[in-house]
Amino acid sequence: MDIIEPDVYAKQKSNAQLIAMQSIDSLNTYNNNKSYDQIVDIGCGDGDITKQLLGKHIRHKHILAIDVLPDMITYARNHNSDDTIEYLVQDMSVEWPLISSPRLRQLAGNVDLIFSNLALEYMADKRQIVDTFGQLLSTGGVFHANLVIMEDINKRLASYGRPPKQQWYQSREKQLDNWRQSLSSDNQFLVKQFEIIDVCWPTDRQKMIDFMPIIISKYRQFFQNTDDFESEKIDHLWDTAFDALVNPTADTPNPRAWQQFLADPTVTVVNRYHQLLRITAVKQ
Ligand SMILES: C[S@@+](CC[C@H](N)C(=O)[O-])C[C@H]1O[C@@H](n2cnc3c(N)ncnc32)[C@H](O)[C@@H]1O
Repeated sequence: MDIIEPDVYAKQKSNAQLIAMQSIDSLNTYNNNKSYDQIVDIGCGDGDITKQLLGKHIRHKHILAIDVLPDMITYARNHNSDDTIEYLVQDMSVEWPLISSPRLRQLAGNVDLIFSNLALEYMADKRQIVDTFGQLLSTGGVFHANLVIMEDINKRLASYGRPPKQQWYQSREKQLDNWRQSLSSDNQFLVKQFEIIDVCWPTDRQKMIDFMPIIISKYRQFFQNTDDFESEKIDHLWDTAFDALVNPTADTPNPRAWQQFLADPTVTVVNRYHQLLRITAVKQ
């Protein structure tokens, strides 16, 4: 997991808040403002959404908010503490038997709601994540997530002379298939919502510069090894990923998109186009 600085993330959040708030409204409508005994927030980041949105708008007894980065959890404890919220450092990308936190393991079978906003795209093995959620949720418990479907940049990279069959990145269809198959395996979940949402997020120049390394880090999961990732990162990935974000329908890729943006201070705002997947599934 690449490091995301809590201060940098805290300045980026308005887009994430909007999408999380839509989710909270739809969960309340779906479950008639039900009160949840135990909520788990996966990839809680700085804890702002945990406290201000989940904590204030979803009736609950207790929220366990989890992040892999110790600095995020320290920041969350310092800035977003609350009586009903407990923060925990845990890597959720490992398989259930390797989850080391006794606190989390003791919740097995007792979680009513697993919520995750813009975090599951960092975790490569979707089947493993779904399996872990199956372990944690009670029967009838709900899993609700918003996650980014990463841009398919294979086609754009072809212009750099990559051998055509070398597909290091997953297409969007493949990413969606992974989720569909993971959710349907073992018939553990009944999928109630599997919705693709296209968003356009205007982003200030400095925020874009600060956030770009985080976007790049999400591509790491598609590489076989760190050497491949590092060499691609230096050669082409920044230009290609930025171009795909700001210019998604272009016929001709711009192989210098990021460098041109950096060199032109008159570009003060860019529109980032993302495709999100919203999932609601019920443990059977
Ligand atoms: C974009 S932030 C989203 C934070 C928050 N949910 C929000 O919407 O504002 C993604 C978070 O997922 C966390 N994350 C990434 N991989 C993780 C993992 N394997 N286990 C737990 N958290 C992880 C990151 O550290 C980061 O804080």
